Formats: sequence, structure tokens, C-alpha cells
Amino acid sequence: MLESSKIFLNTTKNIQPEIAVILGSGLTNFFDNENIFYTISYENLPEFPQPTIKGHAGKLVLGNIHNHKVICMYGRSHIYEGHSPPILANPIRVLKDIGCKLLIVTNAAGSLKQDMPPGSLMTISDHINWSGFNPLIGANAESYGPRFHDMSDAYHQFYRNQLIKIASKNNQSLFEGVYCMYSGPNFETPAEIKALQVIGGSAVGMSTVPEVIVANHCSLPVIGISVITNYAAGISKTKLSHQETLEQASFAEDNVVNLLKNFIKDVNFDDTARNN
Ligand code: HPA
Repeated sequence: MLESSKIFLNTTKNIQPEIAVILGSGLTNFFDNENIFYTISYENLPEFPQPTIKGHAGKLVLGNIHNHKVICMYGRSHIYEGHSPPILANPIRVLKDIGCKLLIVTNAAGSLKQDMPPGSLMTISDHINWSGFNPLIGANAESYGPRFHDMSDAYHQFYRNQLIKIASKNNQSLFEGVYCMYSGPNFETPAEIKALQVIGGSAVGMSTVPEVIVANHCSLPVIGISVITNYAAGISKTKLSHQETLEQASFAEDNVVNLLKNFIKDVNFDDTARNN
């Protein structure tokens, strides 16, 4: 178990969260204050990389959502910040160590599809790792998973199907598509976006894939939701900026937080009936 996991469990007097949520760029309001049990800054967790980007706070918050114990990561680190690959694996391994049964990853992303405009939400059905980066390169952490792990159900279908049903029950529109990861920090060129469209992408962003790889490695089921903040480069004529990402993510915030909370309210953890 990582030192950060021990510190977390000591601080929370062994309260184990069931569900973990990673909030993407520009998403800052998840818990109501009265539902928060503990807040721990990443600065107090020795194996956590410290986020350096505006819109990424850097704290773990444990709270209650519809009688489920939920841990929320406010802020994440990205490869373009220059962290070494194994360090990006640590926060996900801590979530596994402290007992989480499901991870929900959110991100801000650019749309590769004309019919998926800014403001849309997209559940990730699969990804294309176009970043040239893998957080598991290096010695394998045998206590977490095997050297070569399967990725054929990377965005856990049992939970993804529930998310789609719950969105539809609550009249929330939810696209489904393939997330492409680009390393950043620059936004893509129009030629790169055309290439990603040809190879089957639906949205593009600079995060999520490392976390999903590590979660699959340690058998932590994971699903992902992209908040579409812009059309990708070349699809619309406007220039891309991080400011636009933050603003558009904040417009979509109520929508994505409602979806997350509706999902947490109704989710069924019993996947013994899975048939895929
Ligand atoms: N490209 C990469 N990352 C992003 C984008 C984009 O268009 N929008 C938000 N994050």
C-alpha cells in the first residue's frame, strides 16, 4: 500500500469510499459543503504529483452523495506538465488501496463531430492513445497487476450501460464515442484533427487515458465522461484557448454534476450478472 493511502485512511479513521470521481478542467463544484467529511490537500500526500495548471485545485475530498461515500479528486496532473510516467499512476493506485469499487473520470475535450457541439456530454466507449506515452512503462508493479493487461473493456460496459440508462431516465442527452488522447500542451493542428477523425475518434483531449490504463491494470472498474468545450481545431474557425475550455466547462458544470449524482444515486454494483 502506498504511503499516501495510509495517510488517507488514518485521516479519515478508515472510512473507505465506494466511488471515486476525477473532476476535469473547469469543474469545481461537486459536493455541497454540508456533505463533506474530510479534505486532504495533495501537498500532504507524498506520492501525489502536484498540479500546476489553472482550473486544477489539488485536493482529495471525501463526502456523501445519496448515501454513498464518494471521494473526489479536484484536479489532476497531465503528462505535458513534465511528471515522470510512474508518478501519474500513484493517485489511481491510492484510490484502489483505499477501497474504491468504481472510478468515474471526467475531462474537457474538443469535438471531432459536427453533430456533437460544445456543451454536449459524451460517455467514452473506448480510447485511442495518441500521446506516445504510457504510465506503466518501467518495472511492473506486480502487487497491482500483471505486466501485460487486457484493455478490451477499458470503459467498463456494465457501468457504462447503467450510465446511459440513467441519463435517458433523467432526460439528459448523452453522446457515446471514442476519446483520443493527444499529449499537449499545444492544441492539435487541423491536419492532426483530420487524422483523428479518419482513425475513428469522436473527441480529443490531453488527459484521462493514463488514468484509465492504470485503473484497468489494478482492476479498478472505470467509466469516463467528456464535457465537450469546443469544436476541435479546423472544425470551427475560432482559435482555441484554455480560457475557452474553462468557461465552456463551467457552463456545462451543472449538467455533468447532475448526471454524476443521478448515476451515483441509482448505480448497482452487482456485476455478477454481467454477460460480456
Ligand atoms: N484539444 C485538446 N484538449 C482539449 C480540447 C481540444 O480541442 N478542448 C478541451 N481540451
